[in-house]
Amino acid sequence: MNWQIAWWSGLGAAALVVAAAAGWIFALPPAPSPTTPPPIAKEESDITLAALRPPKRQRPLIAIVGINDSSETTDYLMPYGILTRADVADVVTLGTQPGPMTLFPVLKVEPQATIAEFDARHPDGADYVIVPAMSRDDDPVVLHWIRNQASHGAIIIGVCAGAKVVASTARVARVLHVQDGNVLRRRAPRKPLNDGDPVEHFGYRDGISQPLFTKKDVQRQKHKRGARARWNASAPLDLVLVPDPLVEGPDAFGSYLVYRKLGQNLRLFNQRVLALANKLNIDPDLAGAYVVGRFKDGTPVVKWNDNGHRAENDFDFDHDDAAGSKCPMHAHIRKANPRGTTPRTSLASEKSRRIARRGIPYGAPISKAVADYPPSDPNPDLPRGLLFLCFQANIEKQFEFIQHTWIDNVIFPRGLLLQRNTGDDPLIGQDPNQPQDWPITWGEAGDGTEVFNFDAAVKLGGGEYFFAPSIPFLKSL
Ligand code: HEM
Repeated sequence: MNWQIAWWSGLGAAALVVAAAAGWIFALPPAPSPTTPPPIAKEESDITLAALRPPKRQRPLIAIVGINDSSETTDYLMPYGILTRADVADVVTLGTQPGPMTLFPVLKVEPQATIAEFDARHPDGADYVIVPAMSRDDDPVVLHWIRNQASHGAIIIGVCAGAKVVASTARVARVLHVQDGNVLRRRAPRKPLNDGDPVEHFGYRDGISQPLFTKKDVQRQKHKRGARARWNASAPLDLVLVPDPLVEGPDAFGSYLVYRKLGQNLRLFNQRVLALANKLNIDPDLAGAYVVGRFKDGTPVVKWNDNGHRAENDFDFDHDDAAGSKCPMHAHIRKANPRGTTPRTSLASEKSRRIARRGIPYGAPISKAVADYPPSDPNPDLPRGLLFLCFQANIEKQFEFIQHTWIDNVIFPRGLLLQRNTGDDPLIGQDPNQPQDWPITWGEAGDGTEVFNFDAAVKLGGGEYFFAPSIPFLKSL
């Protein structure tokens, strides 16, 4: 009899565990849906193809030209690598002078010929001339040569800011397709306590907390952001580097790169911050800090409830705010880096999820005063956002894990099925219908929380995964 009771109780317990596990799995957010880039109209692609048909030879001759003292690495080398491997044309790299060419930021290469040698070999000119970005748009030698090639019937193609060089030749007949990539790097003012970190469009200092790979960076961080009593930001190189599969060699390491175009709706963000401030009856500065985890000047809300302090990074959530009443559980920096609070996971394993972020805001610059409330941007509806870039050794285990299992997961970091909902990350969570739990009084867990849906002011516009190859690979091209 006893045996039977034990048997049925064991079975019942096992069923409960399975049900709880199933519930937990179903509670996980769905995988982010893939986005499709807007199609290019057929008419536009027909015009582009017709305009790009080889003007002279059946197997076209393509010249990629740069100025020797400073041209751009990717714009100069990528067309060469891709077109040579595609084997659809004869491709030659040219410098304006004899000798090596310096490619910014770090490479030196030996062009295959000078423009003078090319002219002697091909008096009828190239079919296409590819013009990369250069450190100046008005180099008279290169401009003269491009004009000369155009007058011999070559099609001139500017890559990236190389379009400005082409425009300086006054040889632009028609713009076929424009992809806006206006880059802005607004810096936080130096005084009273800042030191020029970049500022993203909502007005918050960015790039404060990063994995640090060199002793120099660790030292700098100690000086700038506080000692390492609570948070040690140092990281091994294999967090971001992997052996380059394209080339062998002791120094051949590359990195996987995630690119996402994230549109930022400034008007909606500011409206929601004010609505949250009204609901909790707090200052909008503090409401914004509950969203991001830091005030606009970088002050972490886990340490202070007003701005004007240090953009510190020496904190964790277990010691400093286990209840989430200072830095809410859903705050962007807490979701994206839980600093040792992932349930049933070691700190080392959690830290192996980190990514090296290199975001670049795009779109019209915002006014300086947007960093204050009320925001005074004259046109909050202009298209703006962040070209989010991050490097890692494994996209699935790092970026995708952070986005899917932490940021979009409404029970993370509480982690248990029966515990209260956390909500998704109000800044970049992908579900606009997910409400979050907000502390009623900063630092007073006993006062409880309010439920409020922050909405989604950041929208994914598209993205891609890349492999950034090693320097030995680039040299081998
Ligand atoms: C428009 C989109 C985004 C904005 C405006 C934004 C803004 C910010 C800001 C202001 C910070 C605090 C400054 C800092 O610690 O460096 C931060 C930190 C961070 N963000 Fe974002 N972010 C965005 C997208 C993302 C995405 C897509 C991810 C990854 C999935 C991400 C991951 C992180 C991480 C890991 C941190 C550092 C957290 C820490 O270590 O304390 N962010 N972000």
